[in-house]
Amino acid sequence: HENNLAQPVGTTLDRYIMRKQAEFAFATGELSQLLRDIALAGKIVSREVNRAGLTSIIGAAGGQNVQGEQQQKLDVEANIRFIRALTNGKEACAVLSEEEEDIIHTGNRDGRYVVAIDPLDGSSNIDVNISIGTLFSIYRRVSPVGTEATAADFLQGGRKQVAAGYILYGSSTMLVYTTGHGVAGFTYESSLGEFFLSHPDIRIPATGPVFSCNEGYWFEYPEYVRAFLLNCKRRTMSGRYVGSLVADYHRNLFTGGIYLYPPTKKAPQGKLRLLYEGYPLAFIIEQAGGLASAGAQAILDIEPTDYHQRAPLFVGSPDLMAELLAGAGEPA
Ligand code: AHG
Ligand code: MN
Ligand code: MN
Ligand code: MN
Repeated sequence: HENNLAQPVGTTLDRYIMRKQAEFAFATGELSQLLRDIALAGKIVSREVNRAGLTSIIGAAGGQNVQGEQQQKLDVEANIRFIRALTNGKEACAVLSEEEEDIIHTGNRDGRYVVAIDPLDGSSNIDVNISIGTLFSIYRRVSPVGTEATAADFLQGGRKQVAAGYILYGSSTMLVYTTGHGVAGFTYESSLGEFFLSHPDIRIPATGPVFSCNEGYWFEYPEYVRAFLLNCKRRTMSGRYVGSLVADYHRNLFTGGIYLYPPTKKAPQGKLRLLYEGYPLAFIIEQAGGLASAGAQAILDIEPTDYHQRAPLFVGSPDLMAELLAGAGEPA
Protein backbone atom coordinates (compact mmCIF):
# COMPACT_ATOMS: atom_id res chain seq x y z
CA HIS A 1 0.00 0.00 0.00
CA GLU A 2 1.82 3.09 -1.17
CA ASN A 3 1.07 5.08 1.91
CA ASN A 4 1.93 8.47 0.45
CA LEU A 5 0.63 9.99 3.63
CA ALA A 6 2.66 7.62 5.77
CA GLN A 7 2.05 8.80 9.30
CA PRO A 8 4.19 8.41 12.36
CA VAL A 9 3.19 5.80 14.90
CA GLY A 10 1.76 7.73 17.82
CA THR A 11 -0.30 10.20 15.86
CA THR A 12 -3.87 10.43 17.13
CA LEU A 13 -6.88 8.99 15.34
CA ASP A 14 -8.20 12.51 14.70
CA ARG A 15 -4.97 13.69 13.10
CA TYR A 16 -4.68 10.42 11.15
CA ILE A 17 -8.22 10.80 9.76
CA MET A 18 -7.61 14.43 8.80
CA ARG A 19 -4.36 13.59 6.99
CA LYS A 20 -5.84 10.52 5.26
CA GLN A 21 -8.98 12.42 4.30
CA ALA A 22 -7.44 13.12 0.90
CA GLU A 23 -7.67 9.36 0.24
CA PHE A 24 -11.36 9.01 1.09
CA ALA A 25 -13.55 8.58 -1.97
CA PHE A 26 -15.84 11.25 -0.54
CA ALA A 27 -13.35 13.75 0.82
CA THR A 28 -16.01 15.96 2.32
CA GLY A 29 -15.09 14.87 5.79
CA GLU A 30 -18.40 13.17 6.51
CA LEU A 31 -16.79 9.75 6.69
CA SER A 32 -14.17 11.24 8.99
CA GLN A 33 -16.88 12.47 11.32
CA LEU A 34 -18.57 9.06 11.21
CA LEU A 35 -15.34 7.32 12.24
CA ARG A 36 -14.94 9.81 15.09
CA ASP A 37 -18.48 9.08 16.27
CA ILE A 38 -17.76 5.35 16.29
CA ALA A 39 -14.49 5.90 18.15
CA LEU A 40 -16.32 7.99 20.75
CA ALA A 41 -18.87 5.23 21.38
CA GLY A 42 -15.97 2.78 21.59
CA LYS A 43 -14.35 4.87 24.34
CA ILE A 44 -17.60 4.91 26.31
CA VAL A 45 -18.17 1.16 25.92
CA SER A 46 -14.51 0.52 26.77
CA ARG A 47 -14.99 2.32 30.08
CA GLU A 48 -18.10 0.23 30.83
CA VAL A 49 -16.46 -3.02 29.76
CA ASN A 50 -13.49 -2.33 32.00
CA ARG A 51 -15.64 -1.91 35.07
CA ALA A 52 -18.41 -4.40 34.11
CA GLY A 53 -17.47 -6.51 37.11
CA LEU A 54 -17.99 -3.62 39.50
CA THR A 55 -21.19 -2.09 38.23
CA SER A 56 -24.43 -3.89 37.74
CA ILE A 57 -24.12 -4.30 33.97
CA ILE A 58 -22.94 -7.87 33.92
CA GLY A 59 -25.43 -10.64 33.51
CA ALA A 60 -28.51 -11.03 31.40
CA ALA A 61 -30.67 -8.04 30.63
CA GLY A 62 -33.69 -10.32 30.67
CA GLY A 63 -34.64 -9.60 27.06
CA GLN A 64 -34.26 -11.67 23.93
CA ASN A 65 -33.00 -10.26 20.64
CA VAL A 66 -34.18 -11.05 17.14
CA GLN A 67 -31.58 -13.83 17.06
CA GLY A 68 -33.44 -15.51 19.91
CA GLU A 69 -30.40 -14.95 22.13
CA GLN A 70 -30.56 -13.93 25.80
CA GLN A 71 -29.42 -10.29 25.67
CA GLN A 72 -26.64 -9.48 28.11
CA LYS A 73 -26.85 -6.10 29.83
CA LEU A 74 -23.71 -4.98 28.02
CA ASP A 75 -25.25 -5.99 24.66
CA VAL A 76 -28.10 -3.59 25.35
CA GLU A 77 -25.85 -0.90 26.82
CA ALA A 78 -23.39 -0.98 23.90
CA ASN A 79 -26.28 -0.96 21.44
CA ILE A 80 -27.67 2.21 23.01
CA ARG A 81 -24.25 3.90 23.10
CA PHE A 82 -23.43 3.27 19.43
CA ILE A 83 -26.89 4.26 18.18
CA ARG A 84 -26.77 7.44 20.29
CA ALA A 85 -23.26 8.40 19.09
CA LEU A 86 -24.27 7.83 15.47
CA THR A 87 -27.50 9.78 15.98
CA ASN A 88 -25.73 12.75 17.60
CA GLY A 89 -22.94 12.70 15.00
CA LYS A 90 -25.48 13.52 12.27
CA GLU A 91 -23.71 11.58 9.46
CA ALA A 92 -25.64 8.28 9.70
CA CYS A 93 -29.27 8.31 8.54
CA ALA A 94 -29.92 4.78 9.86
CA VAL A 95 -28.31 1.96 11.84
CA LEU A 96 -28.76 -1.82 11.57
CA SER A 97 -27.85 -3.63 14.77
CA GLU A 98 -27.63 -7.28 15.80
CA GLU A 99 -29.75 -6.24 18.79
CA GLU A 100 -32.57 -4.62 16.77
CA GLU A 101 -34.97 -6.48 14.48
CA ASP A 102 -35.49 -3.54 12.11
CA ILE A 103 -33.25 -0.66 11.06
CA ILE A 104 -33.14 2.26 13.46
CA HIS A 105 -33.80 5.65 11.80
CA THR A 106 -31.61 8.26 13.48
CA GLY A 107 -33.63 11.23 12.23
CA ASN A 108 -30.58 12.47 10.31
CA ARG A 109 -32.38 12.40 6.96
CA ASP A 110 -29.56 14.40 5.37
CA GLY A 111 -27.00 11.87 6.57
CA ARG A 112 -25.27 10.22 3.63
CA TYR A 113 -24.18 6.99 5.36
CA VAL A 114 -25.71 3.91 6.96
CA VAL A 115 -23.93 1.74 9.53
CA ALA A 116 -24.42 -1.95 10.36
CA ILE A 117 -23.12 -2.90 13.80
CA ASP A 118 -22.57 -5.80 16.12
CA PRO A 119 -22.44 -3.58 19.21
CA LEU A 120 -21.03 -6.25 21.45
CA ASP A 121 -19.46 -9.40 20.02
CA GLY A 122 -18.64 -12.35 22.28
CA SER A 123 -21.38 -11.61 24.81
CA SER A 124 -21.00 -15.02 26.42
CA ASN A 125 -17.57 -13.88 27.57
CA ILE A 126 -18.63 -10.70 29.41
CA ASP A 127 -19.22 -12.31 32.81
CA VAL A 128 -16.00 -14.30 32.69
CA ASN A 129 -13.75 -11.33 31.98
CA ILE A 130 -12.62 -12.47 28.53
CA SER A 131 -12.05 -10.08 25.60
CA ILE A 132 -15.10 -8.87 23.67
CA GLY A 133 -15.53 -6.57 20.70
CA THR A 134 -17.65 -4.32 18.49
CA LEU A 135 -17.95 -4.66 14.70
CA PHE A 136 -19.05 -1.99 12.22
CA SER A 137 -19.67 -1.76 8.48
CA ILE A 138 -20.36 1.51 6.64
CA TYR A 139 -22.15 2.15 3.32
CA ARG A 140 -22.93 5.34 1.46
CA ARG A 141 -26.74 5.45 1.21
CA VAL A 142 -28.40 4.75 -2.15
CA SER A 143 -31.79 6.25 -1.14
CA PRO A 144 -32.27 9.99 -1.81
CA VAL A 145 -30.78 12.37 0.76
CA GLY A 146 -33.58 13.97 2.77
CA THR A 147 -35.69 10.83 2.82
CA GLU A 148 -35.85 7.98 5.30
CA ALA A 149 -33.28 5.18 4.76
CA THR A 150 -34.53 1.98 3.16
CA ALA A 151 -33.57 -1.72 3.22
CA ALA A 152 -31.75 -1.16 -0.10
CA ASP A 153 -29.25 1.08 1.73
CA PHE A 154 -28.20 -1.92 3.82
CA LEU A 155 -28.48 -4.64 1.16
CA GLN A 156 -25.92 -3.28 -1.29
CA GLY A 157 -23.51 -6.19 -0.86
CA GLY A 158 -20.14 -6.49 0.85
CA ARG A 159 -18.08 -4.96 -1.94
CA LYS A 160 -20.05 -1.70 -1.61
CA GLN A 161 -18.79 -1.03 1.92
CA VAL A 162 -16.90 2.30 2.12
CA ALA A 163 -15.38 1.49 5.51
CA ALA A 164 -15.37 -1.32 8.07
CA GLY A 165 -13.68 -2.00 11.35
CA TYR A 166 -13.79 -3.37 14.84
CA ILE A 167 -12.97 -2.40 18.39
CA LEU A 168 -11.35 -5.05 20.59
CA TYR A 169 -11.80 -4.59 24.35
CA GLY A 170 -8.80 -6.71 25.26
CA SER A 171 -5.72 -6.23 27.44
CA SER A 172 -5.80 -2.86 25.73
CA THR A 173 -8.65 -1.41 23.69
CA MET A 174 -7.82 -1.26 19.98
CA LEU A 175 -9.64 0.18 16.98
CA VAL A 176 -8.80 -1.44 13.62
CA TYR A 177 -10.39 -0.20 10.39
CA THR A 178 -10.08 0.15 6.63
CA THR A 179 -11.53 2.58 4.09
CA GLY A 180 -10.18 0.47 1.23
CA HIS A 181 -6.64 1.84 1.50
CA GLY A 182 -5.04 -0.78 3.74
CA VAL A 183 -5.70 -1.54 7.41
CA ALA A 184 -4.66 0.67 10.34
CA GLY A 185 -4.69 -0.15 14.04
CA PHE A 186 -5.04 2.30 16.93
CA THR A 187 -4.49 1.66 20.63
CA TYR A 188 -6.52 3.53 23.24
CA GLU A 189 -4.84 5.46 26.05
CA SER A 190 -7.69 5.89 28.52
CA SER A 191 -5.83 8.40 30.70
CA LEU A 192 -5.77 10.74 27.70
CA GLY A 193 -9.00 9.55 26.07
CA GLU A 194 -7.20 9.18 22.74
CA PHE A 195 -6.66 6.41 20.20
CA PHE A 196 -3.03 6.48 19.03
CA LEU A 197 -1.83 4.96 15.73
CA SER A 198 0.06 1.82 16.76
CA HIS A 199 -0.11 -0.32 13.58
CA PRO A 200 0.00 1.86 10.43
CA ASP A 201 -0.31 -0.89 7.81
CA ILE A 202 -1.50 -4.28 9.07
CA ARG A 203 -0.84 -7.24 6.75
CA ILE A 204 -1.74 -10.85 7.63
CA PRO A 205 1.11 -13.39 7.23
CA ALA A 206 0.63 -15.73 4.24
CA THR A 207 0.38 -18.65 6.66
CA GLY A 208 0.51 -19.14 10.38
CA PRO A 209 0.48 -21.57 13.31
CA VAL A 210 -3.14 -21.15 14.46
CA PHE A 211 -6.54 -22.65 13.63
CA SER A 212 -9.60 -21.35 15.49
CA CYS A 213 -12.93 -23.17 15.65
CA ASN A 214 -15.35 -24.61 18.19
CA GLU A 215 -14.41 -28.29 17.95
CA GLY A 216 -17.45 -29.15 20.00
CA TYR A 217 -19.24 -29.24 16.64
CA TRP A 218 -16.64 -31.59 15.08
CA PHE A 219 -19.15 -34.32 14.20
CA GLU A 220 -21.37 -31.77 12.44
CA TYR A 221 -18.65 -30.22 10.28
CA PRO A 222 -18.55 -30.87 6.52
CA GLU A 223 -16.07 -33.59 5.59
CA TYR A 224 -13.68 -31.19 3.81
CA VAL A 225 -13.42 -29.07 6.97
CA ARG A 226 -12.55 -32.10 9.09
CA ALA A 227 -9.96 -33.21 6.52
CA PHE A 228 -8.36 -29.77 6.62
CA LEU A 229 -8.33 -29.65 10.44
CA LEU A 230 -6.78 -33.13 10.64
CA ASN A 231 -3.94 -31.89 8.41
CA CYS A 232 -3.51 -28.87 10.72
CA LYS A 233 -3.15 -31.31 13.62
CA ARG A 234 -0.72 -33.55 11.75
CA ARG A 235 1.62 -30.55 11.62
CA THR A 236 0.87 -29.71 15.24
CA MET A 237 -0.57 -26.26 14.57
CA SER A 238 -2.04 -24.59 17.65
CA GLY A 239 -5.77 -24.64 18.33
CA ARG A 240 -6.72 -21.23 19.77
CA TYR A 241 -10.41 -20.35 20.32
CA VAL A 242 -11.50 -17.53 22.59
CA GLY A 243 -15.16 -17.73 21.60
CA SER A 244 -15.14 -14.01 20.80
CA LEU A 245 -14.92 -13.63 17.04
CA VAL A 246 -13.18 -10.24 17.20
CA ALA A 247 -10.53 -11.55 19.61
CA ASP A 248 -9.84 -14.72 17.60
CA TYR A 249 -9.76 -12.78 14.34
CA HIS A 250 -7.45 -10.05 15.67
CA ARG A 251 -4.94 -12.57 17.09
CA ASN A 252 -4.85 -14.48 13.80
CA LEU A 253 -4.38 -11.21 11.88
CA PHE A 254 -1.05 -10.78 13.68
CA THR A 255 0.13 -14.39 14.12
CA GLY A 256 -1.22 -15.69 10.82
CA GLY A 257 -3.86 -18.41 11.00
CA ILE A 258 -7.42 -19.34 10.09
CA TYR A 259 -10.79 -18.93 11.85
CA LEU A 260 -13.61 -21.31 10.94
CA TYR A 261 -17.31 -21.17 11.74
CA PRO A 262 -18.69 -23.93 9.47
CA PRO A 263 -22.36 -24.88 9.08
CA THR A 264 -23.72 -26.95 12.00
CA LYS A 265 -27.03 -28.76 12.58
CA LYS A 266 -28.18 -25.89 14.80
CA ALA A 267 -26.94 -23.31 12.30
CA PRO A 268 -27.05 -24.80 8.78
CA GLN A 269 -26.06 -21.38 7.37
CA GLY A 270 -23.39 -20.95 10.02
CA LYS A 271 -23.94 -18.90 13.19
CA LEU A 272 -22.28 -15.64 12.22
CA ARG A 273 -24.27 -12.81 10.67
CA LEU A 274 -23.28 -11.60 7.23
CA LEU A 275 -24.00 -7.88 7.41
CA TYR A 276 -22.25 -6.99 10.66
CA GLU A 277 -19.83 -9.88 11.22
CA GLY A 278 -18.90 -11.52 7.90
CA TYR A 279 -18.79 -8.50 5.59
CA PRO A 280 -16.72 -6.10 7.75
CA LEU A 281 -14.18 -8.81 8.66
CA ALA A 282 -14.00 -9.92 5.02
CA PHE A 283 -13.35 -6.33 3.84
CA ILE A 284 -10.57 -5.92 6.40
CA ILE A 285 -8.93 -9.28 5.70
CA GLU A 286 -8.83 -8.70 1.93
CA GLN A 287 -7.26 -5.29 2.58
CA ALA A 288 -4.70 -7.03 4.81
CA GLY A 289 -3.82 -9.62 2.12
CA GLY A 290 -5.97 -12.48 3.41
CA LEU A 291 -9.18 -14.23 2.28
CA ALA A 292 -12.72 -14.70 3.63
CA SER A 293 -15.06 -17.33 2.24
CA ALA A 294 -18.37 -19.03 3.04
CA GLY A 295 -16.99 -22.19 1.40
CA ALA A 296 -18.58 -21.97 -2.02
CA GLN A 297 -17.96 -18.25 -2.55
CA ALA A 298 -16.12 -15.26 -1.18
CA ILE A 299 -17.96 -13.59 1.69
CA LEU A 300 -17.92 -10.21 -0.06
CA ASP A 301 -19.60 -11.74 -3.14
CA ILE A 302 -22.62 -13.10 -1.23
CA GLU A 303 -25.79 -11.30 -2.32
CA PRO A 304 -27.53 -10.04 0.85
CA THR A 305 -31.27 -10.72 1.14
CA ASP A 306 -32.09 -9.93 4.74
CA TYR A 307 -30.65 -7.94 7.63
CA HIS A 308 -29.76 -10.81 9.96
CA GLN A 309 -28.93 -13.54 7.51
CA ARG A 310 -26.14 -15.90 8.51
CA ALA A 311 -23.28 -17.35 6.49
CA PRO A 312 -20.51 -19.82 7.23
CA LEU A 313 -17.24 -17.94 7.80
CA PHE A 314 -13.72 -19.14 6.95
CA VAL A 315 -11.27 -16.26 7.25
CA GLY A 316 -7.50 -15.78 7.56
CA SER A 317 -4.11 -16.34 5.93
CA PRO A 318 -4.26 -16.89 2.17
CA ASP A 319 -2.21 -20.10 2.14
CA LEU A 320 -4.34 -21.75 4.83
CA MET A 321 -7.54 -20.57 3.14
CA ALA A 322 -6.36 -21.99 -0.20
CA GLU A 323 -5.61 -25.33 1.47
CA LEU A 324 -9.07 -25.45 3.08
CA LEU A 325 -10.95 -24.38 -0.05
CA ALA A 326 -9.07 -26.81 -2.30
CA GLY A 327 -11.10 -29.49 -0.53
CA ALA A 328 -14.38 -27.57 -0.64
CA GLY A 329 -15.00 -28.36 -4.29
CA GLU A 330 -14.79 -32.11 -3.69
CA PRO A 331 -18.03 -34.09 -3.62
CA ALA A 332 -19.27 -34.39 -0.03
P1 AHG B 1 -22.30 -12.35 19.54
O1 AHG B 1 -21.82 -12.38 20.94
O2 AHG B 1 -22.19 -10.99 18.88
O3 AHG B 1 -23.70 -12.95 19.40
O4 AHG B 1 -21.31 -13.26 18.67
C1 AHG B 1 -20.92 -14.45 19.20
C2 AHG B 1 -20.20 -15.25 18.15
C3 AHG B 1 -18.71 -14.92 18.05
O5 AHG B 1 -18.30 -13.87 18.82
C4 AHG B 1 -18.05 -16.16 18.56
O6 AHG B 1 -16.88 -16.46 17.85
C5 AHG B 1 -19.08 -17.20 18.34
O7 AHG B 1 -20.34 -16.57 18.50
C6 AHG B 1 -18.97 -18.30 19.36
O8 AHG B 1 -19.95 -19.23 18.99
P2 AHG B 1 -19.91 -20.70 19.65
O9 AHG B 1 -20.15 -20.47 21.12
O10 AHG B 1 -20.99 -21.45 18.95
O11 AHG B 1 -18.53 -21.24 19.37
MN1 MN C 1 -25.45 -12.00 20.16
MN1 MN D 1 -21.01 -11.20 17.17
MN1 MN E 1 -23.21 -9.20 19.40
